[in-house]
Amino acid sequence: MTPHITRILEAGNSAPSGENCQPWRFVADTSSIEVWNRPERDRSAYNWGQRGSYIAIGAAIENIVLAAGAEGFGAQIQYFPGPDDHIATISLTSGGLRDELADVIALRVTNRKPYRKVSLTAEQRKSLLAASQTSQDPELRFVEAPKEIVALGRIGSINEEIMLANEALHSFFFSHINWTKREDDRNTTGFYIKTLELPPPAVLIFKLLRSWRRARFLCRLGINRFIARVNGTTNASASAIGAIAVSGIEPLDFVRAGRLLERVWLSATLSGLSIQPLTGVFFFKLLCDDRSIDLFSKTERSVIENGCTNAQQIFGIENKRIVAMFRIGPSKPPSARSSRFPLESALS
Ligand SMILES: Cc1cc2nc3c(=O)[nH]c(=O)nc-3n(C[C@H](O)[C@H](O)[C@H](O)COP(=O)(O)O)c2cc1C
Repeated sequence: MTPHITRILEAGNSAPSGENCQPWRFVADTSSIEVWNRPERDRSAYNWGQRGSYIAIGAAIENIVLAAGAEGFGAQIQYFPGPDDHIATISLTSGGLRDELADVIALRVTNRKPYRKVSLTAEQRKSLLAASQTSQDPELRFVEAPKEIVALGRIGSINEEIMLANEALHSFFFSHINWTKREDDRNTTGFYIKTLELPPPAVLIFKLLRSWRRARFLCRLGINRFIARVNGTTNASASAIGAIAVSGIEPLDFVRAGRLLERVWLSATLSGLSIQPLTGVFFFKLLCDDRSIDLFSKTERSVIENGCTNAQQIFGIENKRIVAMFRIGPSKPPSARSSRFPLESALS
């Protein structure tokens, strides 16, 4: 493999992914890169129909296109050229254009610290909106009014309220926590506990909640709602909350949403702003809409559906589905970064 291709693939491999599952595989030669999904990497309820993985792979594709430009190549993308898991073939052509977003691919990170509640500057707002180029679908929206940020922060925390009290989701989440750096380096997937930015008492509570029996008991006393309230406040410590919405639920809608999410994230990074996705509740909505799945109680279902409807109203996108929401703002750097599988393990 040429050094150009290695650098382009490294960029793809550093994309974000739900629970850091890194669901991609690359097949490359000197003039093309195939990007494949690895469904076995994430079969969780959060990943209905692999839609979360498609967003992650969209982000990886965006990084590949940007890194190709930085190496002097153009990139022509053919989506879903064959079997379902073959997401795209990217043909490298001559005459690529350099985009400054390529410079910050390796710096992009999920930051779960509280952010400063200061307004975006006109320049920051402009560059975030420019990330969407001309696209109406997927569509990018931002909300900056403090009252709306508070409401959306609370909607983002519906994830914790539901997940902690639901056995399947609880067991998936806690099986993906790496409690020490050693464990994180060994697993190279999942959440390293330090990246969750929990204050010391919350780490203790988390350790208690690891056992489903204990979590079920404590949720009856309302601990899930308490944690959601606290997290809702952290979620609302932001300059803005953004959303990406799509018209359909086809795999390609999610791949395109992932490309846009990555562009916004890189634009924010370039402007000195942090991002944390808050997506759980919108993936729960996909599960609610699939009548063959019976994961939620009637009350949970209505909390999820009301949360998603309220978010759509706040963003003014009632006729589209929100597939990613994220908070943005200036912050101290995160306490830790997530590990990655080495590039060789992403190659065919
Ligand atoms: C589709 C998708 C959904 C995500 N949802 C959340 C979320 O709800 N909350 C959160 O804190 N991080 C979320 N993340 C961020 C991932 O956890 C993160 O990308 C991963 O752990 C790797 O860390 P990094 O982004 O710092 O490289 C999401 C990422 C993707 C691509």
